[in-house]
Amino acid sequence: MNLNTAKKYWAVIPAAGVGKRMGSQIPKQYLPLAGKTVIEQTLSVFLQHPDIHGIVVAVTQGDPYWQEIYEHQYIKESDSNEKPIIVAIGGVERCHSVLNSLEALSSHASDDDWVLVHDAARPCLKAADIDCLIEQLSETKSGGILGLPMADTVKRCDKEQKILATVERSELWRALTPQMFPLKLLKDALSDAIKAGALVTDEASAIELSGLKPQIVEGHPGNIKITHPNDLQLAELFFSFN
Ligand code: C5P
Repeated sequence: MNLNTAKKYWAVIPAAGVGKRMGSQIPKQYLPLAGKTVIEQTLSVFLQHPDIHGIVVAVTQGDPYWQEIYEHQYIKESDSNEKPIIVAIGGVERCHSVLNSLEALSSHASDDDWVLVHDAARPCLKAADIDCLIEQLSETKSGGILGLPMADTVKRCDKEQKILATVERSELWRALTPQMFPLKLLKDALSDAIKAGALVTDEASAIELSGLKPQIVEGHPGNIKITHPNDLQLAELFFSFN
């Protein structure tokens, strides 16, 4: 439930990666999944969520797969949902794609609107996780992220995969997405991080570098990132049960 009616919630979907580890010719966000593509499944979650006002998608310039989806699928779907879909150009790293998206969003949104940055490659996100983020973070100043407490014993290894140490796991969490922050706070933090040469792999890292402490909200373990071919099979299984 939207607790703060004055501020809008925007989804920001970085989708400009090539997905090298997937070993596929087609970028992983465009691979088929449960009757659609991975990115269409991801977009559906946000298009259908009542609290999300609009979506920014960062894609590689001239991306033919995106053009196909955007022209044939989502303009229609977004019309019926009356949600704007803003297209931004992706950058060299994920952090550049997100920053470009936030800059594109700035002319449509207020500085203190919330952005929920979510990987295109995480199509199994549940609407209930978006609800939890909105409920638990909307009254905070610096936002937070979905995460999972570390369930396994954790090892530190050398390059030959020889174990050097067992790491105390009680304070360790895996960072998931969405990661929810006020638009301007995140834009400034990402811009500062990149200027300082820190190519952060998630939004929280940029906020941490600015001296703030984002909150972690425990998410659903099914919110996997499609990285290797087996992950796609797992995601298919997820959709067959939902
Ligand atoms: O490669 P990885 O799985 O970490 O990418 C996470 C998300 O960031 C993916 O949805 C991918 O498309 C996106 N990305 C991006 N721009 C890049 C690299 C990755 O938008 N330069």
